[in-house]
Amino acid sequence: MAKKMAKKRILSGMRPTGPLHLGNLHGALANWKKMQDHYDCFFFIADWHALTSDYDMTAPIQGYILEIFTDWLSVGLSPDKCTLFIQSHIKEHAELFLLLSMITPLPWLERNPTYKEQIAQLKNKDLSTFGFLGYPVLQAADIIMYKANGVPVGIDQAPHVELTREIARRFNYFYGDIFPVPETILTETPKILGIDRRKMSKSYDNAIFLSDTPKEVRSKVGQMITDPQRARRNDPGNPDVCNVFSFHQLYSDQKTIQRIDQACREAQIGCVECKQMMAENLIQALEPIRDQRSYYEAHPDTVRAIIEDGNRKAQAVAHNTMEQVRAAIKI
Ligand code: TRP
Ligand code: SF4
Repeated sequence: MAKKMAKKRILSGMRPTGPLHLGNLHGALANWKKMQDHYDCFFFIADWHALTSDYDMTAPIQGYILEIFTDWLSVGLSPDKCTLFIQSHIKEHAELFLLLSMITPLPWLERNPTYKEQIAQLKNKDLSTFGFLGYPVLQAADIIMYKANGVPVGIDQAPHVELTREIARRFNYFYGDIFPVPETILTETPKILGIDRRKMSKSYDNAIFLSDTPKEVRSKVGQMITDPQRARRNDPGNPDVCNVFSFHQLYSDQKTIQRIDQACREAQIGCVECKQMMAENLIQALEPIRDQRSYYEAHPDTVRAIIEDGNRKAQAVAHNTMEQVRAAIKI
């Protein structure tokens, strides 16, 4: 009998900077959920990475970790199908980070576009630290530790994976062929925007969270900016530029979508009514996630056990890799 081909390994992570929102759900999470059925998946919470920018505000991180883990389980990431773990519990990441830092040329880090952009954007924050510059080196350690073949990330993270590829090649060149060079698997970002029409983000205070109650969802949907050209109820609207309509396309049935498309253009429906319909459909779509969440919130021991189990599995892989790495470097 032919031996079954080993599944390719996929790895990705999230920084614990707050609870997950609809942008995360339709971006990373939906993608991860599909992948768990076809790949050997490792997903983790990058809490050390959170420290690179939030080193002076560490108190909320523990809470966020638990919150995100609960979000993951609630949307259906399954501990039977993937390894879910927390970066800082696997100390090997720190060791590999240190070793990779020996071979990573500084100019590779200094020319990283994400790095330059963040330094420019977060002006009120001192990011001229060793740790922040080394962010992609730690990320490279996260990835190659598990010999990942693919890394699903959004476009903003692509430079980091590119750097990981260069670091992996350099390691292999010096010490022998240990690491696969991982592919970037670009995740499509969802069309939906935040309630203010900017990119949905916790830091913009415009996000609808997976953990929001129906009441919170109704209130946020009520505040959503619609077609900015439609000032009065009698003005025809343009659903193509309306964020509420983008939500309808995700959460309402085809008939409703078509009806609204037409009614909006003919000023037959007002935005208030249109939003109300969308809010109810959104609430309904989120209900299974909310149900799962209340289950896990009522069973913190179960969540803890899942985390420990995932950490243990990740640890075993990391342990193995580091034995090979130390042997290769002869240290
Ligand atoms: N930098 C990633 C982000 O901010 C998080 C991350 C850390 C990551 N290590 C990783 C993502 C390894 C993919 C692979 O989203
Ligand atoms: Fe947007 Fe609906 Fe208002 Fe049209 S009616 S502009 S689709 S909210």
